[in-house]
Amino acid sequence: MRIAITGSSGFVGTAATADLGAAGHDVVRLVRSAATTPDTAHWDPATGALEAGSFGAVDAVVHLAGENVAGGRWTAARKHAIAESRGPATARLCRALAALPRRPRVLIAASAIGIHGDRGDEELDERSAPGTGFLAEVARAWESGTADASEAGIRVVNLRIGMVLDPRGGALRRMLPPFRLGLGGRLGDGRQWVGWITLADLLVAMRFVLERDDLAGPVLAVAPEPVTNRAFTAALAHALHRPAFLPVPAFALRLAFGEMADALLLASQRVRPRRLLDAGFRFAEPDLDAALRSMLR
Ligand SMILES: NC(=O)c1ccc[n+]([C@@H]2O[C@H](COP(=O)([O-])OP(=O)(O)OC[C@H]3O[C@@H](n4cnc5c(N)ncnc54)[C@H](OP(=O)(O)O)[C@@H]3O)[C@@H](O)[C@H]2O)c1
Repeated sequence: MRIAITGSSGFVGTAATADLGAAGHDVVRLVRSAATTPDTAHWDPATGALEAGSFGAVDAVVHLAGENVAGGRWTAARKHAIAESRGPATARLCRALAALPRRPRVLIAASAIGIHGDRGDEELDERSAPGTGFLAEVARAWESGTADASEAGIRVVNLRIGMVLDPRGGALRRMLPPFRLGLGGRLGDGRQWVGWITLADLLVAMRFVLERDDLAGPVLAVAPEPVTNRAFTAALAHALHRPAFLPVPAFALRLAFGEMADALLLASQRVRPRRLLDAGFRFAEPDLDAALRSMLR
């Protein structure tokens, strides 16, 4: 397939670009700066403008772009950038895709398990109602931003991604320094559920949904067994052979991270990937202990 990808410079996007290329696909990176190489085309998330030319002929689009949610304290400006780069930018991209003379057959649009809000011990899957709060609202707008593409006959998969684990980026890279020093610990009471997936399994899941014509709509990209933050902390400490006895109280997290603490670090989402499992997807790393041990070996 010829596949266009947004957000290709990011943690997931860099790996996805390499993975799709290695799988034999022809990858066009949609870049926000000027396109300078034959494998790039320009798009502007602020206007939805897509550079004509190479774009007319893509079979699939993987849309990962968005302002980093954990990139700093949520000031009003950052919250605006987080929201604006998801719902509205996705809607503009989808209008542009729908208007192409030759439309792609499929769009994989990133979304996040944060769409569920903070749900305690409730078991959640794709049938569950969305939650409330800033991230849940951002994710709802992000998913509804793809409506123009589905109405134009493009198969849209809204991939609800959990915490992506790989030592080279994302949350795990940020957690490693304190845990390696033996300064790790649970966050708050540690009872919040964490939906996680290894980067390697996410890449395979992305190729799986690209090829499975019967999948459309929300699809959870998380390992089959969510864990509590307490269990996650123990698994990470164990994989690093370090103690993790220093819990970080919720008030300290709120002091350090403001609103982001409750929305990102203390929120609980006990999510299971019902649709991937029903479709026969097999996770290479369904077990957190084994996954962490193998990636941190
Ligand atoms: N990593 C996770 O654990 C996780 C979990 C759930 C959901 N997700 C979602 O999956 C997607 C990819 O995640 P990631 O970890 O790879 O994120 P990332 O490292 O922050 O990369 C996102 C990419 O989006 C583009 N971007 C940044 N700011 C932007 C803005 N204001 N407007 C438009 N594009 C912007 C950039 O790519 P270019 O410079 O190439 O345009 C950036 O490299 C994100 O949408 C993220 O919210 C990630």
